[in-house]
Amino acid sequence: MKSSFLSKLAQRSSEPAISWLMRLTLDQPKLISLAAGFTDNESLPVSQTARLVHEILGSKKASRTPLQYGSTAGHPDLRRLTAHDLALLDGHSDPRIYSPDRVLITNGSQQLLYIVSESLCDPGDIVLVEDPSYFVFFGIAQSHGLQCRGISMKDDGLDLEHLEETLAFLKRKKQLHQVKLLYLVSYFQNPSGATTSLEKKQRALEILRRYERDAGHPIFLLEDAAYRELRFYGPDVPSALAIEKASDRVIYAGTYSKPFATGIRVGFGRQKRFNEFLSAAFNGQVQQRSVTWIFFVWVRVVSQKQLGNFLAAVFNGQEQRSGLLPILNIWIRFVVQKQLGRAFAFQV
Ligand SMILES: Cc1ncc(COP(=O)(O)O)c(C=O)c1O
Repeated sequence: MKSSFLSKLAQRSSEPAISWLMRLTLDQPKLISLAAGFTDNESLPVSQTARLVHEILGSKKASRTPLQYGSTAGHPDLRRLTAHDLALLDGHSDPRIYSPDRVLITNGSQQLLYIVSESLCDPGDIVLVEDPSYFVFFGIAQSHGLQCRGISMKDDGLDLEHLEETLAFLKRKKQLHQVKLLYLVSYFQNPSGATTSLEKKQRALEILRRYERDAGHPIFLLEDAAYRELRFYGPDVPSALAIEKASDRVIYAGTYSKPFATGIRVGFGRQKRFNEFLSAAFNGQVQQRSVTWIFFVWVRVVSQKQLGNFLAAVFNGQEQRSGLLPILNIWIRFVVQKQLGRAFAFQV
């Protein structure tokens, strides 16, 4: 039982399972944790990062800005580069969709998920999630007093029939006005590994759109693309932003942490109405003031195309180092899906 002098939000919040999973891994360096999401220590880009930090802080004049406060929405160059790279990835260049003004830089995509939940949802609201889904998101939902409704999954991602059934059920129960979001981990989903096709994302958006009139407000697709860049083979799938006339209902969450170095934790989001979202979120009042220099590191990583080169080197190394990788993947899927996933998701 938490002290009653705490705010309702603090009383609702509990220590996320990921915290002890991470602590366990850090305390026992020999443990190979398949749950905590650590990047491989040996692959971390030590020399590249040292060179970049030297470049940034090496010149007396230029090093002042990175050590100064930054703006709330993030470093303008990083916003521009992020918008540009996102457009390239999606094979789309409409400046209204991929405008830097619509990009927000955060301290990890986790923070973006938090800001979005806080900006759109009130306690008691409903978030539709894949079943199973990324369990750390449930902690955010719990803090904000949200109900997560699980939508079952097929091998190729979300079960659209179940999505439709769930919305119809909530309509009958007169609860549609509480539905604010569908949270989708669309690339190599955590924990199932499924990637959602563009067509499926389009159909999910169409279904959500059909229920908006009864909901009385937009129902957003929060597309968490945390693992998009970690593709070993096959062509990339465009994000839901690329879907014709749908981008204003899509909130895209990406991260630079996963594909490079998790310790230099920077995430980003894209949504048409970010200015509105930001002013509504208290994080907007306090974030972005202490990490400016890290954004400068990322400006260099992205502009010098280091991310792609680094990933290519890591993937080549992995392939040579470990023929066991596919077996390990299957094992991770099995354990996480069976043991963890079900425990954290709820079904209508
Ligand atoms: C699906 C998913 N989304 C978001 C995150 C958070 O990433 P970041 O380090 O950018 O906050 C993770 C981290 O494991 C994740 O698995």
